[in-house]
Amino acid sequence: LKLATGKSHAKIILLGEHAVVYNEPAIALPLPDLKMVATITPRNFGQIILAGNYQGSLNEMTEAFEGIRQLINRLLRFFSNPKLAFTLKLESNIPLERGMGSSAATAVAIIRAFFALFETELSDRDLQRWANVEEAITHGSPSGIDAATAAHDVPVWFVKGQKPMPISMSLDATLIIADTGVHGQTGLAVSVVREQLLNEPVETQNHLSELGKLSVQAQEFLAANSIEKLGPIMNSAQQHLSALGVSHPYLDALIDAALEAGALGAKLTGGGVGGTMLALASNEANIDAIVSALEAAGAREIWVQKYYANKE
Ligand code: MEV
Repeated sequence: LKLATGKSHAKIILLGEHAVVYNEPAIALPLPDLKMVATITPRNFGQIILAGNYQGSLNEMTEAFEGIRQLINRLLRFFSNPKLAFTLKLESNIPLERGMGSSAATAVAIIRAFFALFETELSDRDLQRWANVEEAITHGSPSGIDAATAAHDVPVWFVKGQKPMPISMSLDATLIIADTGVHGQTGLAVSVVREQLLNEPVETQNHLSELGKLSVQAQEFLAANSIEKLGPIMNSAQQHLSALGVSHPYLDALIDAALEAGALGAKLTGGGVGGTMLALASNEANIDAIVSALEAAGAREIWVQKYYANKE
């Protein structure tokens, strides 16, 4: 066995987070600049995992790594090599617990590295299934969107239980993504919505289905080059998410700052309750204005991601 690597990247949800747990459609976009690389080096003895600032053996991994630990153990059994000695190095610039799918990206990179190590082909479907082994442990009962989209490097349309479909875009767009610095926890955020669905079923269900409709409209606007119509869709989504109880005062402050700076639309992305927001720039000149406004409003970190039309 020789050294093997596997790669993946972060993702953000443009529309449909939370609603996607209840079978509504969502749109996820790749963040190709935020990468994860897993490198496995076979050794003579001892399993050592290096994960950012974490160093230790599989059995000593902390609770936060439980999903990854179980994933690796299952992979070792699958390859009939449960006692394999190796070093796993994880190199990444994806922030953790920010709604950017860092855990799924970690899982996808590790799975790809193991399949490369054992020189075995890996279909998209199997990759997604393996990634869900980890996601189900880390996030409770997720929709699977993180696992499904971490494996794609194009915008995708995602419905729970179905194959993600690449989306056609006839527009160029720039999204500015900003971190509140407050750790969002997907599992917690999902349970906030579940509680609300129990307490106020009719109203909550209405918010969820409206969010689904916004994904449908956004897909049409992306295909039809109507960028100015996308902004209001994002703003409506934010109102529904806020009503579902998953926004946060810091998110609201960053969203307001971006809109005041001329963004076409702005909303939280991912689980919320902290975490990250995104804003749609109206044009090239608007990008710097939004970035400055977000900085002034206290954003911890800011990323600018450009997307290009993939059809004529
Ligand atoms: C998390 O990235 C997205 C949520 O919709 C949860 C999920 O789909 O599993 C909040």
